[in-house]
Amino acid sequence: MLELSSKMLRVLDGEAVFPPPLWIMRQAGRYLPEYIELRSRQKNFLSFCSHEESIIEATLQPLRRFELDAAILFSDIFILPHAMGYPLTFEERIGPVLRPLTSGLLKTLSLSGALERLPHIFQALKRLRQMLPETVALLGFCGAPWSLACYAFSGRPSADQAVARQASYTTPSLLQDFVTLMTEASVFYLHAQLEAGADAVQIFDTWAGILDEEGFARWCLTPTKEIVTQLRHKNPRARIIGFPKGCAHRLRTYLEVTGVDAIGMDWTVSAEIGKDLQKTAAIQGNLDPLRLVSGGKALREGVTRILESFGKGRFIFNLGHGIRPETPLAHVQDLLQLVREGGSFPR
Ligand code: CP3
Repeated sequence: MLELSSKMLRVLDGEAVFPPPLWIMRQAGRYLPEYIELRSRQKNFLSFCSHEESIIEATLQPLRRFELDAAILFSDIFILPHAMGYPLTFEERIGPVLRPLTSGLLKTLSLSGALERLPHIFQALKRLRQMLPETVALLGFCGAPWSLACYAFSGRPSADQAVARQASYTTPSLLQDFVTLMTEASVFYLHAQLEAGADAVQIFDTWAGILDEEGFARWCLTPTKEIVTQLRHKNPRARIIGFPKGCAHRLRTYLEVTGVDAIGMDWTVSAEIGKDLQKTAAIQGNLDPLRLVSGGKALREGVTRILESFGKGRFIFNLGHGIRPETPLAHVQDLLQLVREGGSFPR
């Protein structure tokens, strides 16, 4: 495990560092021409994600171009359910397409043997940790059970996740069984990632923000708390970042209930909320990815405001969600420079 040479890990371990460490959610991907080229060599996204050399190369690509403080394992949140037997494909221009969840399908899913089907992931992490400089933190990740369930019930990306929300009212025991299974699987998966060489892990809960209060407690807070508790039981030094998107007003509760070390904030989270969270944890975020697409004044003003609001405390600069494929590379370079120069933040 890395220690003081990594700015990112210093912040996760409780220090305020300025200028803050910086990485970008979905930093490997289609805004990089070299990613598109590499990806075109494999017939589909799942085979790409099963190929150790491709995983390593895709993980390193953004770091070859930009001086980022963290590398995130190239994979997807659906690789774990797929290894457990979930039938799914990735379709061009759609994304993940899953067989809609039924109790019959749930019975065919199993944790047994799943991690053994993912040697390329753990081998890639091990090699990446050896290849990366000590200043760069290596991140692993998983999808939160609720967000995985959203796609499992709908079968494909959806704007409001009506099918999964409806399922939470009409077939809660099916949803509960799936969430319980994925909670247990995530503990083993994240633990294995940390053992292989990841310095920290992030739990992506992209759809946490569409739940009502009761649903949020049951489907987001409880399973996430369980993952954090069990993972720390196996590895007391596990560094965990939670990213429940779209629930600004519930982040304080999320932090207190789950006990994550750092909390990812989407771009709707206010300076007031962020500063309050920063009193007890590291925060990460929260530039609107469209400010990065826009560049210029929109980018400069967004970065400056964020640095002014959060620069004095424990803070990791990031976008408020993944980088968009249409993002110009020059804007990413501008972002790095702005953050490294501290925006117009008076020092
Ligand atoms: O951050 C990184 O650079 C690591 C790689 C990474 C991917 N997906 C690669 C990917 C990570 C961390 C993810 C997480 C992920 N995947 C989430 C949570 C974060 C978020 O964005 O909300 C979710 C919900 C998914 C599911 C998923 N995978 C969708 C909805 C899609 C299609 C939409 C899209 O962006 O294309 C994917 C496919 C996917 N995952 C791609 C990449 C680079 C694009 C597919 C391709 O290159 O062919």
